[in-house]
Amino acid sequence: MRMRNIIVLGEVIMLLVVSIYLSALYLPHYINQLPDFYKMSTKDFHTHTQHKLSMRTDSIEVERHRQSFTVQEERNYLANFSSLDSCFVSSNAIYGAAGKSPCYDSKSFIESVSSGGRIGVDAPYHCQGCALWWHSTEDICTILSRYEHILFVGDESIENVFGGLLSLLREDLMYGSLMPWAFINDWQANECTCDKAFSSSACPVTRPTSVRQILDHNSNMIKCRGAPIANVEIIRLPSLDLNANEESIREVQTRLVRLIARDSNPVAFIYSHGFDLEIATTWLAHARDALVPCIPRAVTLHEIFLTPGASGPQVSNSKLATHGLQATQRFENGMRERARTVGFDVLGTWNATVQTRFLDDGLHNGVAVNLLKAMMVVNWLELVEQ
Ligand SMILES: *[C@@H]1O[C@H](CO)[C@@H](O)[C@H](O)[C@H]1NC(C)=O
Ligand SMILES: *[C@@H]1O[C@H](CO)[C@@H](O)[C@H](O)[C@H]1NC(C)=O
Repeated sequence: MRMRNIIVLGEVIMLLVVSIYLSALYLPHYINQLPDFYKMSTKDFHTHTQHKLSMRTDSIEVERHRQSFTVQEERNYLANFSSLDSCFVSSNAIYGAAGKSPCYDSKSFIESVSSGGRIGVDAPYHCQGCALWWHSTEDICTILSRYEHILFVGDESIENVFGGLLSLLREDLMYGSLMPWAFINDWQANECTCDKAFSSSACPVTRPTSVRQILDHNSNMIKCRGAPIANVEIIRLPSLDLNANEESIREVQTRLVRLIARDSNPVAFIYSHGFDLEIATTWLAHARDALVPCIPRAVTLHEIFLTPGASGPQVSNSKLATHGLQATQRFENGMRERARTVGFDVLGTWNATVQTRFLDDGLHNGVAVNLLKAMMVVNWLELVEQ
């Protein structure tokens, strides 16, 4: 008799434990979804829900590697990109995951990716801790589509990262960062290819400032099948004196205020500026003062500062003090140190760019390094908005 009571009691406890476990598993998900439904007008409800549902299936796809602790396969993820045989780039040569498991949160990602190294010039870059994930174009599209707006803000160093992202989205290594339809002659078309697209002084006028500009020319050029891609754009704010850029700032402010509603998806600002610690921190404060108030409080805003990275031996003697290898490293360490004290995210690219080949003035890298920097930004965008 007593034995049977104990068995029944045991069964009850087990049932209780299982149901607590199950509700702990599903309840947070359920509760997380609730606010969205309350924020929406009925008009938006249907499209929004559809969109959310399809995004959720995609996100599961993207995050599968995390849940299963999968290590990324070693293969060339650029194998289907166009101009592969003219520009000779392979994701394996850019970056090595070497059996490491992927990063699970943005803090450890930033730490790991900022502190890696290469074994030899142009050898693949290895993060120090958890691994950067080389996303397929489809994954990149899904990650970007979680955002309402992604804004790259900075001097010319941010332009190259933006160009890297465009090259990934277009799967085009030769002209991916440019608008070849805007070339004025054959000479420019021959000059502005692959690496040189990122550095040649012949090319700047053909650099797009938004993904929209490319979609408007030919929507098939962005290889996002179906995913409604976020507004991704860049503004050049090279100068500390923001009054000098008043017009472009006003334009961006107006656009942000018009586009971002209280119930919008998250927004991301990616800043970059070299190489003077005082100038860059003041610049960052001014840029944030101008842009952050345009985003309603209710909308999630993610921000990061990307350092421009190392410089090459081509840097002229007169610039060594400010742009030399040691100056750029001091700048990076200084930015990371200051950011740590105020809790602002700074992703360092010095270690990822030192020991790479530089072009022209020693301050620009070619397509391979800029694809890597762009992929770092994509990883960060994924991790801060899981
Ligand atoms: C390239 O395309 C082929 C055929 O569509 C596909 O099987 C393969 O997975 C693609 N490779 C990459 C790296 O995306
Ligand atoms: C960058 O790499 C060097 C070795 O070249 C290493 O000593 C240093 O710790 C790395 N930097 C950071 C920020 O971890």
